[in-house]
Amino acid sequence: MTSGPRRAASPDWWRSAVLYQVYIRSFADGNGDGVGDVAGIRSRLGYLAELGVDALWITPWYPSPMADGGYDVADYRGIAPEFGTLAEAEQLIAEAHQHGLRVLLDLVPNHTSHDHAWFRAAVAADPGSPERARYWFRDGRGPDGSRPPNDWVSVFGGPAWTRTTDADGRPGQWYLHLFAPEQPDLRWDDPGVRAEFESILRFWFDRGVDGFRIDVAHGLAKDPRLPDLGDDVEELLATPDADDHPHWDRDGVHEIYRDWRRVADSYADTDEGRRVFVAEAWVRTNTSRLARYLRSDELHTAFNFDLLKCPWDADRVRAVVDRNLASLADVAAPATWVLSNHDVVRHVTRYGRALGDEDAFAGAVPTDLARGRRRSRAATLLMLALPGSAYVYQGEELGLPEVEDLPLEALQDPIWVRSGHKRRGRDGCRVPLPWSPDGPALGFGEGAPWLPQPAAWRDLAVSAQRDDPASMLTLYRSALARRRELPELHAEGLSWVDSAPGTLAWRRGPRFACVVNFGPDPVPLPCGGELLMGSGPLGTDGAAAAERLRLKAGGPLPGETAVWLRTEG
Ligand code: GLC
Ligand code: CA
Repeated sequence: MTSGPRRAASPDWWRSAVLYQVYIRSFADGNGDGVGDVAGIRSRLGYLAELGVDALWITPWYPSPMADGGYDVADYRGIAPEFGTLAEAEQLIAEAHQHGLRVLLDLVPNHTSHDHAWFRAAVAADPGSPERARYWFRDGRGPDGSRPPNDWVSVFGGPAWTRTTDADGRPGQWYLHLFAPEQPDLRWDDPGVRAEFESILRFWFDRGVDGFRIDVAHGLAKDPRLPDLGDDVEELLATPDADDHPHWDRDGVHEIYRDWRRVADSYADTDEGRRVFVAEAWVRTNTSRLARYLRSDELHTAFNFDLLKCPWDADRVRAVVDRNLASLADVAAPATWVLSNHDVVRHVTRYGRALGDEDAFAGAVPTDLARGRRRSRAATLLMLALPGSAYVYQGEELGLPEVEDLPLEALQDPIWVRSGHKRRGRDGCRVPLPWSPDGPALGFGEGAPWLPQPAAWRDLAVSAQRDDPASMLTLYRSALARRRELPELHAEGLSWVDSAPGTLAWRRGPRFACVVNFGPDPVPLPCGGELLMGSGPLGTDGAAAAERLRLKAGGPLPGETAVWLRTEG
C-alpha cells in the first residue's frame, strides 16, 4: 500500500490531478450478483493506486430505482442496497485515503428520482401546494389540458413532460423532466431545494469525501416562463446554441455554485485538504461560457468536452487546446481533459473511424480498431502532457472498444426505449470490466454480468496486460508514473514548437517536449532528446518505451505516434 504523501502534498492537488472514473455498476462485483458494488471497488483500490491515478470519481451509488443507471436518486444520503451500505462506503473512503487516493462522488442536482420522498409528496399534494413548488408542475394546454405545457423534448427522446393522475383517477397536472420521466426536474428557485443540497454536500464532506462531480451542471436554472423552443427544438436540445436558452446554461446557475463554493471552502483547513467540484456542463463550443463556471468563487474545474468531441486532427486539436487555455486563463482555472466517459462511444472506437465522423454518440459505422488503438495510445500521451487535470474512464487504460453488438434484449439505457428503438444508447461503453482471462465474468465477479462481455475481451483483461510491455495498461501505468515525477507536467502553460503539418509539438518548461504525429506516415521530429515515453514502436527493436533511447531532431516519428522527450533545452 502506498501511503498518503501525494494526497496530502498540496491544497492545489486538483489542478493537475489525474482522476479515474468508476462506473460502479461495471467496475467490480464483490458479491457475485453480476452488478458492480462498493465491495468490488474496495477490493481493487490496490489496482488503482498502482495504476497511478490521484483520485476516483464514483458514479451515483445512492438508493435509486435505476431508471437511468442511478442518475435517478431516491435518497442522496444513502447507498443503494445492490451497491452496499453506508458503513461500507465510509470504509471505502477511509481505505482510498490510505492508498493515497482521493474520492469524488457524483451529485445529481438537476432532478431527483420519481421515487424520492419529495416527488411522491408532490404527486400526492394539490396543484399550487408547497410540495409541488419544488418541481415544475404545470397545467397542460388545450381545453382539457391534454397537451404538454410547452414543446420541450427530453434528452433521451420524447416529450419532456409527463401527465400525473389525480387521486380521483382523473388526469392531472404535468411535470417537467429533461431526461427520463423517472427523473423530474427540481426547481432551483425554491429555497428549500437549495438548503437541502447544501446539507447533502455537508453530509458527504463530513464523511471525508474530497469533492463532487456535478451532473448536468448547466441545467439547473430554467426560464420560469417556460417558453416554447420553436421549430428547431431537437437541434437546440443537442447543441445549446441560443444565447438565451430557456433551460441550458442560464446565468442563474452561477449563484448556486457560489453558495456551494462557500460550503466547500469551509472545509478547506481540515486535514483532508481542499474539497473540489468538477462540473459536467455541456455549453456552447467555441465560446468562453465554460470559464464562467470556474470564476474564483464558483467551481474549481469543468470537463472540457471539446477535446472529446474533436476528431483526430492536428489543427483542430490545437485549436481546442488554445481556445480552452486562453479562456480558462482569464479565470485562472486549470483545464480538465477527458477522452471518454459513460455517456459517449469509447475513444478506441471513435478514433478508428474515418476523419470527419465527429459524432461521439453515433451508432455503428465502419471502424478500424487497430488504427483506433494506435491513435488512442498517442492521445493518452497527448492528454497527459497538456496542462491541467485529466480524467481516465474505467477500461480506457485497457484499450476497451465500444461494444456495438450487445443483444437488443440486454440493452438497459432508457435512450433505447425512449427513442422508439432508434438509438441504442450508452450501454456499449458500460460493459463490465475484464479483470482476468477466465471465469464466468472475466474476473468481474462470480455471477453473470449485467451486460454480457465480448469473448475477445479475454485478451484485454487486466491480468493479461499487466506484464506485457506493449500493452495499453503498461502505457498508462508508465505515463502516469512519469507524469508524477516530472515537475514540468504540473506547471501551468505550454509553448508550441513549429513542427511538420499534421503534427503537434509543444514544450512544458525548457527541457520537456511532447510531439504527436496525427497522420499515418512518418514525419521528421522537430526536436531531439532522450525518450521518456513513446506511444508505439520507434526503433528497429520495436520497443515501445525503451529506456534511454535518444531521438535526433529530424529523425523519423512514425505515423499515429506520440513521444515525450527530455530535450537539451
Ligand atoms: C449526465 C450523466 C448521464 C445521465 C444524465 C442525467 O449527462 O452523465 O449519464 O443520464 O446526466 O442525469
Ligand atoms: Ca454485486
